[in-house]
Parts: sequence; C-alpha cells; structure tokens
Amino acid sequence: MQMTNGVRRSLLAAAAMSLAFMATASTAQQNQLSADQRAEATVKKMTQDEKLKLVLGYFGSDWEGKKPPAAAHYGSAGYVPGIPRLGIPPQFQTDAGIGVATQGAATTKRERTSLPSGIATAATWNPDLAFQGGRMIGSEARASGFNVMLAGGVNLARDPRNGRNFEYGGEDPLLAGTIVGSQIAGIQSNQIISTTKHYALNDLETGRKGHDVRIDHAAARMSDLLAFQFAMERGDPGSVMCAYNKVDGDFACENDWLLNHVLKRDFGFRGYVMSDWGAVHSTVKAARNGLDQQSGYPFDDKPYFGSLLKQAIAAGQVPKSRLDDMAERVLYAMFAHGIVDNPVSEGGAIDFAANEAVSQADAEQAIVLLKNEGNLLPLGPNVRRIVVIGGRADKGVLAGSGSSLVYPRGGNAVPGLDPTGWPGPVMYFPNPPVQELQRLAPNARVTFVDGTDPAAAAAAARAADVAIVFGTQWSSESIDVPMKLDGNQDALIDAVAAANPRTVVVLETNAGVTMPWASRVPAIVEAWYPGSKGGAAIANILTGQTNPSGRLPVTFYAAESQLPRPVRPGANSEMDQFDLPYAEAAAVGYKWVDRNNLQPLFPFGHGLSYTSFDYGPITAAAAPGGGVRVQFTLRNSGNRPGMAVGQVYASPSSGGWEAPNRLVGFAKVELAPGAAQTVAVDVDPRLLATFDEAAHAWQIAPGNYTLMLGASSRDLRGNTTVSLPALSLPANWRPGQEAVAPAPRRGERGR
Ligand code: BGC
Repeated sequence: MQMTNGVRRSLLAAAAMSLAFMATASTAQQNQLSADQRAEATVKKMTQDEKLKLVLGYFGSDWEGKKPPAAAHYGSAGYVPGIPRLGIPPQFQTDAGIGVATQGAATTKRERTSLPSGIATAATWNPDLAFQGGRMIGSEARASGFNVMLAGGVNLARDPRNGRNFEYGGEDPLLAGTIVGSQIAGIQSNQIISTTKHYALNDLETGRKGHDVRIDHAAARMSDLLAFQFAMERGDPGSVMCAYNKVDGDFACENDWLLNHVLKRDFGFRGYVMSDWGAVHSTVKAARNGLDQQSGYPFDDKPYFGSLLKQAIAAGQVPKSRLDDMAERVLYAMFAHGIVDNPVSEGGAIDFAANEAVSQADAEQAIVLLKNEGNLLPLGPNVRRIVVIGGRADKGVLAGSGSSLVYPRGGNAVPGLDPTGWPGPVMYFPNPPVQELQRLAPNARVTFVDGTDPAAAAAAARAADVAIVFGTQWSSESIDVPMKLDGNQDALIDAVAAANPRTVVVLETNAGVTMPWASRVPAIVEAWYPGSKGGAAIANILTGQTNPSGRLPVTFYAAESQLPRPVRPGANSEMDQFDLPYAEAAAVGYKWVDRNNLQPLFPFGHGLSYTSFDYGPITAAAAPGGGVRVQFTLRNSGNRPGMAVGQVYASPSSGGWEAPNRLVGFAKVELAPGAAQTVAVDVDPRLLATFDEAAHAWQIAPGNYTLMLGASSRDLRGNTTVSLPALSLPANWRPGQEAVAPAPRRGERGR
C-alpha cells in the first residue's frame, strides 16, 4: 500500500506520542500499574481543557458542508483528539459489526472484508466462529488505523420489520448476548476497543430519534438489558454506545436509570458511555445522568460536551469530579484494551484471502435449511440443467445498508439501484452464486434468468431439472421494512414453483419474511446477507459440500397479525415521535408465540441438516451457588458428517415466567456419521429467575423446573426435572460470584 498523507500523519503522531510517553514514565513502570491506576494517575496530570478534549468526538467525514478534523481518517465514523503531552493517542473510530465500513458520502472507499450480517452470525449458534469473525474484522480495523470499532450491536429483534435486525443478534438474550459478546472479545483481541450498542431498547428504526419506549423495568432486565449484560460479561467492551430513542420519557443518552443505575452500578461497567451520532440533547442532564463522551459532532446541533460543558462546570451545574470521572473512564478503556501501549497506524497489511475464508466459514454455518421435502437438496451429480432465477444472483449477494455497510473488494456488483444515497446505496458484494454454483457443478449447465418477467422465468424453469429462485429483501439503518420480499418476488416464486416442482428458494433477507408460497415449494434456504463470500457459501450448501447447520435466531412469523404490534407504529421516518409501549414486555419472539399459542411459519431454533440426529438423554443437577448443570448427548444417526445444535429450554412447574419456556443453554457439536458426544452446559441462574424490582434482585422461586432438550423451540425431544431451592441474587451479581442468599418467602421479609 502506498504511504498516504494519513499514514505519514499517523506514523509521526505515533512516534511523537511514544517520545512523550517515555518522558513521563518508562513503559515497564507504567505496565506494572493496572489500567485503573494508570487512568487515575493520568487524569491527575491533566488540565481541564485536556479532560474536555477526551469527551467530545468529531465526525470523521463531511457533514452538511462541514469538514472533518484534518487528523481524522477520511470517511470514517469518528475522531477524538489525543493528549500527546501525556502519551494518549487519538481515538480513531470506525463502524461496525461486520467489518470496517466507509461512510456513505466519502468519495474514496476503503475496500474491506465483510462478515455475513450479525443476525447470520447469530444463526451459527457458534460462539467460536463469532470470536474468529470479530478477530478478523478487528484486525482489519487495526491495519486501517482504527482503534475503536463501533460494533457489538445486541438490540433484541422484537419486530421482524426493524430495518436494523441484520446488525443484531436475534431475539433471545442468551443467544444474542453470547454471540455478540464473543464477537466483541474477538475484536478486542487486536488491542483495540469495541463498543456494544445501541443501549438500549432501540428495537425499531421508525422514530428512532423520537420514539419513547415504555416497558416495565423488570421485563427490560429480563430481555434487552439481559442481552447487553451477557454480551458485556463475555466481551468486556471498552465502550457502550447509548441509543437515539427515549425510554420512560428520557433520551437514552441522558437516562439516569439506564446509564447510572443499570449500566454503571448494577452491571459494574468501568468503561465509557459514548453517544450515538446525533443522540445528545443536553449538557447538564446528559453529564449528570451518565454520558461520558459526545460522539460525531456536528451530528448534534451543539457541542454539548465542548464549550457548553466547560460553562456548566464553571457555573457549578456539573461537578468537576464528574468531568474527572468521564475522562478517567475513557482513559481506563484506552489503557485496559491496549490502545495506548500499542498505537495503531494506517496502511497495515491485510490478508484478504485468509479473511474472506473466515467470512465464508461464518456464512456457511449461518445458512439455515428451512425446508427440504423429498431431500431435493443437496443437488446431486445427476442434475444436468439448473436455472437460477432472480436476486441478481449472476452478479453478487445482497448486503444491508447504513453506517455498517462495508465497501467490498471489487466494488458494488450492481451499482445505481435506488436509493443510491442514504439510506442506500443498495449494495451487492461481487461474489455471484451463479458462478460459484457452476464451478461446483461442472457436469451441469447453469443458466440465469433475471426474473423480471415471471412467465419467462416459468418457461426457463420448465426446461430445467432444478429451478433455484433467489428472493431478496433489502434493508437499511434509519428505515423499517415490510415483512415480505421486495417487489413482485412472491408472484415470481409462485410462477416458477407451478412450472417446476423441483424448485428451491434461496432467501437473502434482513430477518423473517412472509412466504405465501411456502407450502408449494419443496426446499427453502435462508442465507441472510451472507457477506463477502456469500456466493461461495450458498453454492457449497446447495451442492452439499457443506452440510447446513444454521438455526433460526429469530421466529419466522406466519403473518404480521401474529406480531405484538400487527401495525407498525409511525410513518417510517426516523424522526417520528410517539410512545412505543412494549406490551409483549419480556416475551420476545418465541416467548410471544408460545405464550399466545400461535403457529409460526418456522420457529426459533429451527434448521435442518442433510443428516439426522438423535437428541438425548438429558440430565440436570442443581449447581452449587445457583444455576443448574445440564448434560445431554447428541448423536449423528444419518450418513453424512454434520453439526447439531442441542438447545436447552427451561420451564418452572409453578409458572410465573413471561412465557412457558426460555432458552437457557445450547451447544453446537460436529459429529461424524454414527458418532455421539455428551456435552455439559451450565445454566446461568438469572435465566431461571425473575427480576424483582422491589427487592432489586433476581429471584429463583423454589420448586421443580423442567429442562427440555430441543432441536428447536417447537421440537423438544426429551426432558428432565430438577428441584431448586429459593435463591436471591442481587442485581449486581456476576457469574462466579458467591453472593447467593435464600430469598425470603412472601410475608417473611423483615421477620
Ligand atoms: C448509527 C451507529 C453508528 C454511527 C456512526 C449512527 O447513525 O446508529 O450505529 O455507529 O452512526 O456512524
């Protein structure tokens, strides 16, 4: 790579910083201190203006005619100046969870590797893969000169129409928290900071800048906040990004309950809260209620944490100690995650082939085989004529858009589609399934029909041995999307299926869509937005080079009438203002359909394989200190190697939960034909408890609990019962902590 001005600038800055650092104390001396001690000592040496520098970030791209700071990396999300005198480097911030993105308006793009969408990675049910994906994108961030990655999206999928579901980890707190937490850990293994976002309850894009979420606090702790808590315990992110929306009347970035009480006190978060871009509305309230760093100025109308914070401190409206705390939190994260000791610089080497292999492995385990009647898949060697129809499968694979969009190597395979500007562009990564399929099926003739004319597509399908229709649903940040395929694709699929009974549908979607044709199509494959090597991954699955092992991380509803809000509120502008009562409370997704006895199209946890598995037996025993240890056996009863996901659901015999069953554990195992494996899973006691606001504690009710081993949330194959004593875990309880006391029975408190 040539040395750009930016590279030169960073190298010079890094050199100057190391000199300054050596002048204050030797690295060896510094390294003997904890991150806490180093942060505290550094703050003591800082002037007020230096502290203020750390708490105001700038947008790294052009914004409404305003230029970014010269030192920012061009086209990036953000920049926060450093303190060279004290050896503190600037923070160079990049989006997002699937790779190093370039801001849409930037004229030159960084071409980087994209993972599949976040919901796809959740569909792998494989925390190791999530870690490896995080490590890969974090390495590209570091090589690109970034030391803060705005990743870790873990908002729960409460509504399949949320335009950003593709950035998140699905609908279940345990699965989402585990997968996203692993990804955060992978990113940070590069000695950079990852965020987790968007804290909290930003589960719809319509009105994201004005809607006001109303949810019972205990229910929030058992759903969205628990997902954050799990992700943070596993990933230890340096920063948490607060969201745009309001909760209980207060914006998330100035919300005392969310930031001070839950995040900093109960979760014990030591890092810093950064705002989403344009999510700050005040100085005094935001500072007092827990925000530590304003991001992306001038996205907000004022530099609330710049000159206005200085004035507020002078006027005694914000205590000086609060500014110290903000600066110390920022510095703590910078020391703890290595970005002071290992400064980044632009222009590092990237092994794209190796990184694309990581992305492809993720996509292959993410793809969910939803239906496979008559074992139509995998395509056998006798298939001679394959017609691929629609979805621009001759050009590439679809991506989700918005700030997280990665500009791929080779550029957009289908440029010029509307919208070309925000919230677009519509992007296809240049890895065409058609080409990849032809490569893997050399004895077949693979042809392509674009699908704009259903009659022509049907005629082509009639003349083929197998017809593969690609169905797409484009989605982006700042908008929500109908729960259906775009345009006339439903009619196209119907026409093709009527012409050829051997029709396969491959979906590239944000989340679940309705499938009015589902009963007339023998094979359906959910490929999500499959990332840089999505075409190769899809071809491997269709031809059986890879045995599918993805499982749905969200419920696929049969119709919008099944949703907690059949009619989506607002008019689909991010500026809409309305109250958003989450009537489903903690009963998100499968919990909602189970509670209401609804029949989803495909249930949470569902996914088929080209082999078959036996599930069980399952045993369970109460674990010392709370929780349960579950053991179960999975066996490959078919004749191909494959991966099974054992899903453990729990149910209290006394009821009292938000839904009949909760996912409390899972494990994915790879099995040769005939092989069996027994795995142990420790169930977190909070998943067996309900949150009690009055007692400010997680309470496990005494009694019997059924633990069920499932192939999906609706396919439970065996169970066992365990009896648990009453337990109470304080709200600030953490795994491994022994502070477990018997809960007082009703009426006993105070005796
Ligand atoms: C998004 C964030 C993103 C930020 C910076 C905001 O619009 O909500 O997820 O990190 O922009 O690009």
